Amino acid sequence: MSFENIITETHGRVGLITLNRPKQLNALNDQLVDELSSALDGFESDERIGCIVITGSDKAFAAGADIGAMSGLGFMDAYKADYITRNWERIKTCRKPVIAAVAGFALGGGCELAMMCDMIFAADSAKFGQPEIKLGTMPGAGGTQRLPRAISKAKAMDMCLSGRLIDADEAERAGLVARIYPASELLSETLKAAQSIAQFSLPVAMMIKESINRSFESSLNEGILFERRSFHSIFALDDNKEGMNAFLNKRPPVFKNQ
Ligand code: CAA
Repeated sequence: MSFENIITETHGRVGLITLNRPKQLNALNDQLVDELSSALDGFESDERIGCIVITGSDKAFAAGADIGAMSGLGFMDAYKADYITRNWERIKTCRKPVIAAVAGFALGGGCELAMMCDMIFAADSAKFGQPEIKLGTMPGAGGTQRLPRAISKAKAMDMCLSGRLIDADEAERAGLVARIYPASELLSETLKAAQSIAQFSLPVAMMIKESINRSFESSLNEGILFERRSFHSIFALDDNKEGMNAFLNKRPPVFKNQ
C-alpha cells in the first residue's frame, strides 16, 4: 500500500511507521491518521511482525492535531465525523506492542499519540507538551486522562493549564518516558529494543500488554484476577514449554508464537 503522509518499513520482525508531513511538523490530519490506522492494520495482521515502532523526524514527532484543519470545524462537523474517535483510537486497539520513538516536538495530539503507544523512548532533544489552552481549546485525544495516569495529577494540571513544554529529562523523571537516547541513536536503539521484544513469544507479549492495560480499567483485585487467569492460560502454550525447557537445558529458546 502506498501512503502520502507516512512511510512504512520492516526491519526483521519490527514494523516501522515514520510520520512524514515535514512541512507541517507532522501535524496530524485525517488523512495522516487514516494512513497510520491502515499501516497498523497491516502490521497487526502480518504474522511476521512482532513489534511496531512509530516515529517522526528529528525536529518533530508530531506538533499536534492540524490546526488549519481544525480551525474551520463547528460542533456538528466534529460530532458527526466523530473527530478523533473515528480513526485515532485504532492505535489504542492495536494488540501488538507499539513503541513511540520521539525526537523533537511531541505537542498536543502528538504527545497524546505518543501516550497511546505502550511506551515512549525519547531522544535527548524531545519536548512534550499539551499547549492546546494557548489556542483556546483543550486536549482531545486523551491528554487529560492519560497524562495524570502517567505523570501524576499535579504535573498533568501544570502541563495542560500552563501549556509549558517539558524536556526529555523531566519527562523521564515524571514517568512519561521509559528510556532516553542521544538523538543520533534514538531510532537504532529503539529498533534494537523492538527487535528484542519481537523475538519473544508474541502471544505472551500480547497477554502482558493486555494485562498491564487492564490495570488502568479495573480495581486491583479484578486486575490481579485477570492477570492470574492470563498467567494460567499461558501454561497451554507450546512457547511456555519451550521457554522453560530451553532454560533448563541451557540453550536459547525458539518461540513459534503458539
Ligand atoms: N498544525 C498545523 N500546522 C502546524 C502545526 C499544527 N499543529 N504545528 C506546526 N505547524 C506548521 C506551522 O504552521 C508552519 O507552517 P508554515 O511553514 O507554512 O508557516 C510549520 O509547521 C513550521 O512551524 P513553525 O514555523 O511554527 O516552527 P517553529 O520551529 O518556529 O515552532 C512549534 C515549532 C513550537 C512546534 C510551533 O509550530 C507550534 O507551536 N505549533 C503548534 C503546537 C500546538 O499548539 N499543538 C496543539 C494543537 S491542538 C491539538 O493537538 C488538539 C488535540 O488534543 C487533538
